[in-house]
Amino acid sequence: MQRMKAAAGSVLISDREIRDRVAEMGARISDDYRGRAITVIGILKGSFIFIADLIRQVDPAIPVELEFMTVSSYGSGTTSSGKLHIGQDIESPVEGKHLLIVEDIVDTGLTIARICDLLASRGAASIRIATLLEKETRRGHPLTLDYIGFRIPDKFVVGYGLDFDQRYRNLKEIRVFDGG
Ligand code: XMP
Ligand code: MG
Repeated sequence: MQRMKAAAGSVLISDREIRDRVAEMGARISDDYRGRAITVIGILKGSFIFIADLIRQVDPAIPVELEFMTVSSYGSGTTSSGKLHIGQDIESPVEGKHLLIVEDIVDTGLTIARICDLLASRGAASIRIATLLEKETRRGHPLTLDYIGFRIPDKFVVGYGLDFDQRYRNLKEIRVFDGG
């Protein structure tokens, strides 16, 4: 039987480090939103594991609503195409709501900037951004990221929800993609 190569490249962030950091992020979010309800807008697909872990670190006394938006800008490559394609949009109106957009990774910032503009135009009461990863080299799009898990070098990474051409989402840790 042909053996499949297990991992994509070297480990950048271990599952333990992710767990500890996500717990810290959840604690901060709980402090910041005390007394308010949060509408989490998850940007699929890459953030699905992060969202699941993050919302379970938010104080259960804070009401959390969950919506998903499917967006793609990378096609099957490792560089942004610059074109944002919104697939599935959120289902409920966001007017007057406190939105927490949850992203897996911010690279150029184009994706998140466009999503913020769109949701702001729909009358959200407030918009904050939580991203698990931010590339240190981020250029263009000046934008405040409110909650950042890790700043990483300008490498293409996979695992913990992030894919290369739909693979490697099921890795527990984040790895630098070495070409498979
Ligand atoms: P921008 O440039 O718009 O890119 O900030 C953000 C989106 O691009 C995807 N992306 C990645 N996906 N590994 C991935 O699996 C990466 O290293 C990576 N860099 C960017 C991601 O979907 C994000 O929403
Ligand atoms: Mg992707």
